[in-house]
Amino acid sequence: MTRQPKKTKAAHPSSIRAAITAVHGYVPPDVLTNAELARMVDTSDAWIVGRTGIKERHILKGKGLGTSHMGAEAVRGLLKKTGTAPEDVDLLICATTTPDFVFPSTANLICDMTDIRGIGSFDVQAACSGFIYALTIAAQFIETGQCRKIVVVGADKMSAIIDYTDRATCVLFGDGAGAVLIERSRKYGIIDTLIASDGAGMKHLHQKAGGSRMPPTAETVAKRLHYVHQEGAAVYKYAVARMAEVASELMARNRLTSKMVDWLVPHQANKRIIEATAERMGLPAERVMVTIHKYGNTTAATIPLCLWDYESKLKAGDRLILAAFGGGFTWGGVYLTWAYDARLPRSENKTGQGGRATGGGKGLAMRLAYMLKAPLALLGPFAASLLP
Ligand code: ACO
Repeated sequence: MTRQPKKTKAAHPSSIRAAITAVHGYVPPDVLTNAELARMVDTSDAWIVGRTGIKERHILKGKGLGTSHMGAEAVRGLLKKTGTAPEDVDLLICATTTPDFVFPSTANLICDMTDIRGIGSFDVQAACSGFIYALTIAAQFIETGQCRKIVVVGADKMSAIIDYTDRATCVLFGDGAGAVLIERSRKYGIIDTLIASDGAGMKHLHQKAGGSRMPPTAETVAKRLHYVHQEGAAVYKYAVARMAEVASELMARNRLTSKMVDWLVPHQANKRIIEATAERMGLPAERVMVTIHKYGNTTAATIPLCLWDYESKLKAGDRLILAAFGGGFTWGGVYLTWAYDARLPRSENKTGQGGRATGGGKGLAMRLAYMLKAPLALLGPFAASLLP
């Protein structure tokens, strides 16, 4: 039996919050329409739109381009639009299920491609809930004062693991990436988070071969075991229940009525799942972010891509509930207040940072150590003096 997520804090214990202060996205230029898919497998535009809400999705083409390519594009745009120098970033986390390699991590590659050097970077693997997990981790680093600027990326090249002869899965997924800048704030930001998992869900949604349990062989390739295996109807049942539960749990423990929630930012797996979640929360369609019609399910990228698409509609103080469900099974949600108005120049947004975010602190000490090719310990009291 699936255990319910543990009820944790509702009230925020720290006066410093982790706020999203910018968002940027990237989808590759090539579009795969329902009409094109109908020429590849036995399906139709009417079936795909009716059952999922998807009209088209973007596919990353080009030899040698992996998830890191899209993640780096999103991060470059993010740094540019915020005027953030690569050396000001203290930590980079990438949520992905389709890393370029088993190792090094896609986060390591994105840092290299965007000239971010000497900081901690790692991947988070929680399938479609990956961005929620990564955001939750990032919030801890901000709240404890260890980092001042964190880049969280959600990126997936699902086309690399989709069987384009399987009509039940190939119509669902697309490629894309989104990145957010997380900074400290005394006014806005993440108020509550909830993450959960149930490994027994593996049988309904997984990739059979390619990992350490069944390494790649000519046989695994011939049997098409390197693709997403999904029992759609079973996953659907769980997804509807868990997405709605996560959203209502966050509302209940933060005493939010439906009138108080400005936006639901749901993972984009199926329009029917999104509508069921919104209905359970009592939210009208105009307060629900939907991008599934044009991007499909981009796994860890759906939520940051939603934020990117709707950025111009968001105002400082808006209450957002983010919710996701994915392979694992994993699920989770974040309740936050939006920190800025994109129509105003960045300098005019009072995000309540409480002092200039200089990208100093531990990140600077670590980078100095990296540049000097010396362990942090050798910097001794000097390094200690830089810690917040
Ligand atoms: N075109 C036409 N017919 C199709 C297609 C297609 N593309 N795909 C399936 N069908 C058929 C099936 O073969 C079946 O036919 P049958 O009745 O003759 O056997 C019929 O349509 C119904 O199939 P279902 O799988 O029951 O269809 P359903 O209404 O459940 O929709 C879908 C399928 C869209 C996959 C849905 O189940 C779903 O959205 N599931 C949840 C997905 C999800 O949330 N995943 C988690 C995140 S993904 C991640 O973490 C990586």
